[in-house]
Amino acid sequence: MSSVVQGKVALITGSAGGIGFAFAQELLRNGAKAVELVDVNADLLQKAKEQIAKEFGPDKVDFTKADVTDKNQLEAAFKKAIQVFNQLDIVINNAGILDDVNYEKEIQINCVSYLNSANTYSILRRKNSYSNHV
Ligand SMILES: NC(=O)c1ccc[n+]([C@@H]2O[C@H](COP(=O)([O-])OP(=O)(O)OC[C@H]3O[C@@H](n4cnc5c(N)ncnc54)[C@H](O)[C@@H]3O)[C@@H](O)[C@H]2O)c1
Repeated sequence: MSSVVQGKVALITGSAGGIGFAFAQELLRNGAKAVELVDVNADLLQKAKEQIAKEFGPDKVDFTKADVTDKNQLEAAFKKAIQVFNQLDIVINNAGILDDVNYEKEIQINCVSYLNSANTYSILRRKNSYSNHV
């Protein structure tokens, strides 16, 4: 039976490790076409990409180093995914921190970046027809 993510391409923020990386693996296990890993940690990102390529194949993964609080970097990550895979169907806004002392940064990453991401994706989708959105 075909799964809802079959053939879809997903961009996942904060996916160099933890839950974001697990999302990437789970999507691919369930038939996703490919994943774009996005994270601010370049070293972990490279390792994550290598692990996904080893487990699922090199054509299943691409990555972009980006800080989700930077609108330009976020937009570049979306554009890269579309350029590499010719489609982008799923966005998982997973990047987040827990830092109540530095709460302004926490709000920026955990809340404002989600809205920027949704807005960026929405604008790109309206301009292009690359998505079988789920
Ligand atoms: N682990 C839990 O029990 C739990 C519980 C509730 C919510 N969450 C949320 O789930 C998400 C993932 O949690 P996790 O446990 O895997 O966290 P994690 O710290 O293991 O992973 C978060 C990832 O986000 C990346 N990241 C942080 N700031 C970033 C930025 N500005 N731009 C791009 N990437 C950035 C980090 O480099 C890291 O790879 C987070 O949003 C977290 O708040 C986790």
